Amino acid sequence: MAELQRTLLLVKPDGVQRQLVGRVISRFEERGLKIVGLKLIHADRALAEEHYAVHRERPFFKGLVDFITSSPLVAACLEGPNAIAIVRAMNGATRPHEAAPGSIRGDFAVETAQNLVHASDSPENAAAELALWFRPEELLDYSREIDRWVLAPED
Ligand code: CMP
Repeated sequence: MAELQRTLLLVKPDGVQRQLVGRVISRFEERGLKIVGLKLIHADRALAEEHYAVHRERPFFKGLVDFITSSPLVAACLEGPNAIAIVRAMNGATRPHEAAPGSIRGDFAVETAQNLVHASDSPENAAAELALWFRPEELLDYSREIDRWVLAPED
């Protein structure tokens, strides 16, 4: 089996307001990824600014923080083999006009500033972002009956 990874997915305020949370999360469940953390949270500016710290100098930073703190969002921790790359691919390109049809942004979004979802882009960022959004005890270890049909057997 490929390396098991955990990654952060955010369904941003536009996804909650547009009532797309269930459809977005369902896609990842249907793909075979396991939900190991899930919560609705209204992020404050400190959390948003830390999450997007890499964009602090960008002209869109204030608008991005305003947007992400404007309404509740859903934070999820998804686990599976190569989960980081799988979730990024399923989200689609950051700019929705470049996102492939069939991806979440390619199917549901038209604006970069309201592109519905965020996902970690590397193992290092996944670890940092998960630590930012979840306490350790909020991420649950459990097995699923279906995993023998989803995950390759151990050697
Ligand atoms: P996300 O994957 O959450 O990571 C950074 C976010 O910044 C990105 O999705 C967009 O929502 C946002 N973003 C990137 N570029 C722009 C832009 N030019 N204008 C507004 N928002 C942007």
